[in-house]
Amino acid sequence: ETVEWDPEQAGKGTYDHFMLKEIHEQPTSLSQAIEGRIDPAGGRIALADFEPGTFADVDSVQFVACGTSYHAALYGSLALNQAGVQSTALLANEYSVSAPPIDDDTLVIAVTQSGETADTLTALRRAAREGAATLTLTNVVGSTAAREADDALFIRAGPEIGVAATKTFSSQAVMLTLLAQRIAADLRGEPPADLEALLPELESMPAAIDDVLAGSAAKTVARRYSDSEAYFFIGRGLGYPVALEGALKFKEITYEHAEGFASGELKHGPLALVTPETPVFAIFTGQEDEKTLKNAEEAQTRGAPVIAVCPDDHPAVEVADDHLPIPDTEPDLAGLLANVQLQLVSYHAADLLGRPIDKPRNLAKSVTVE
Ligand code: AGP
Repeated sequence: ETVEWDPEQAGKGTYDHFMLKEIHEQPTSLSQAIEGRIDPAGGRIALADFEPGTFADVDSVQFVACGTSYHAALYGSLALNQAGVQSTALLANEYSVSAPPIDDDTLVIAVTQSGETADTLTALRRAAREGAATLTLTNVVGSTAAREADDALFIRAGPEIGVAATKTFSSQAVMLTLLAQRIAADLRGEPPADLEALLPELESMPAAIDDVLAGSAAKTVARRYSDSEAYFFIGRGLGYPVALEGALKFKEITYEHAEGFASGELKHGPLALVTPETPVFAIFTGQEDEKTLKNAEEAQTRGAPVIAVCPDDHPAVEVADDHLPIPDTEPDLAGLLANVQLQLVSYHAADLLGRPIDKPRNLAKSVTVE
């Protein structure tokens, strides 16, 4: 497969920053990611180069990745677990000391935007040496990780110039949602029961992201809480990797303290940090939302403002101090819409603080040393 990159696209256009441009490119980059890969009429996921049955012998999947790509990998791994396939996501830089056992039926998937991250390449090579089948999910055709793995899948997001990964996270997570469904279908010999409901929602993701981008709540929220001491993000199920990603994006470009937690973990320690000066962003995906709401209320009782990221008709709207709206969709995808709101909050918060958004201090787009 080849992917054409138009050099014109590399300009900032009318946007002040590449990050904002790339956030706004998500409807297009996601359309490119799914084009030709889903067939709602036939009720299946079509991945060129991966004939039905390709993954029939896989007995477990391990993901290796770093940073934002690790959050996408965790998203994919949880989606696989929820589809009944054994899977773990590991930080690539931890893999050399603590890789789980590998056998011939282990599939190791490296998730890397650049395809050049040293930690991820080291993990991929170790997996291959130990006999795993390897697959790279990347944005860069011809990258080292794409060439070295047995197979490669491309997210087709186009160039991402901002150091903060935005559109590539969304495309990685959507591709891993597709892949999870395909692996589950191959293992069972038939598509998972919930696939029929998911496919049309996947197809409408670009339009749903357009809806999120058309709103202005994120800028208002960023302004309202810009003097806070720290920022917390909570989510459950597929909302958990989104909470981690929301916090990483926030700390990376605002230089403010931000942490992501599994909602249920708040009461096991982090609650000690919660004060009226620590806004809590609560992500609702439709997976045990009532528990996440209870966790958010526990923070609110300690004075923390709660910002609910959820559809307009969600019960959390009544309870929360602020609301970042997302269109109604399947739990497999809701977190990705929430993530777009959180990308915008980070962007506007960093802009208000006068940070150099596209090139944060101390960070490089691609980390080629271990
Ligand atoms: C996130 O905004 C960063 N750019 C960083 O965490 C990045 O995702 C990580 O370094 C991995 O890069 P890769 O996807 O190119 O492997």
